[in-house]
Amino acid sequence: MDRMVSPPPAYRDTALELLASWDRQQTAFIRHRDLRFDTILTTVERVCGRTPRILDLACGPGSLGLAARKRFPDAEIIGCDKDPILLRMAHVAFAEDDKTSLLTVDLDHAEQVLALPGMFDAVISSTALHWLQPGKLSELYLALADKVRPGGVFLNGDHFLYDAMAQPSFRQLALDDDKAQQAAEFAKGVDDWETWWSKAAAAPGFEDAAIARAEVWKDKLAPARKVSLAYHQAALRSAGFSEVGSVWQYLDDWVVAAIR
Ligand SMILES: C[S@@+](CC[C@H](N)C(=O)[O-])C[C@H]1O[C@@H](n2cnc3c(N)ncnc32)[C@H](O)[C@@H]1O
Repeated sequence: MDRMVSPPPAYRDTALELLASWDRQQTAFIRHRDLRFDTILTTVERVCGRTPRILDLACGPGSLGLAARKRFPDAEIIGCDKDPILLRMAHVAFAEDDKTSLLTVDLDHAEQVLALPGMFDAVISSTALHWLQPGKLSELYLALADKVRPGGVFLNGDHFLYDAMAQPSFRQLALDDDKAQQAAEFAKGVDDWETWWSKAAAAPGFEDAAIARAEVWKDKLAPARKVSLAYHQAALRSAGFSEVGSVWQYLDDWVVAAIR
């Protein structure tokens, strides 16, 4: 029997344009975002095979999940986030994908992650977990140790600052490289973070999501103080992951990896 297909929402094209400009905006902050995604997915493939059950933590509008879908046509993908605008975009991007589900989850409440159905072969995340305060991040890692199946993998790509006292030159190199990448991309007309969000909040079909977004985030609309790579790795080890390290690095951009 044919699957019932609902008509696309009137804001479909707007959502897809916003997604394309989101990816350009994110690339202004992450020079090698594509390589980072590729490393995450190649590691998932090598550790878990070609039909993994994947959780994309803080999936935003779905960029990493879409890359996962391209790589793994038969995978089950669950994306979770708490931002109403980004989730609405993800719903459009995955509208015709019956093996992907999108869930509203607040990662500051690790019990919501524990309550997700079933175990995962791979939990992946990109440019997101620096939004969590260190204590919340440790709680999340404890929950993930119960949600990644034995032998499965957790992968987190993000910027982790070099230590200001021990590695001041490396830290400056990375900061200068970020600045140069942003200047080059913004000079091409790529939206910066604030401009992108003003456009998204004013986009037709997103008015109610913008109101919901203000309510969801209230006064917390800023990333937490960044913790070090070593902090992430120690928290993952303490949570019970058996092998912890990193599988990719460009300056202060790393993909942290942990095998359960
Ligand atoms: C810079 S975006 C990255 C989104 C996506 N992973 C990507 O690479 O395009 C950061 C994401 O983290 C999400 N986020 C931050 N704190 C969160 C929390 N406590 N619970 C759920 N999502 C959160 C935001 O809503 C946003 O989607």
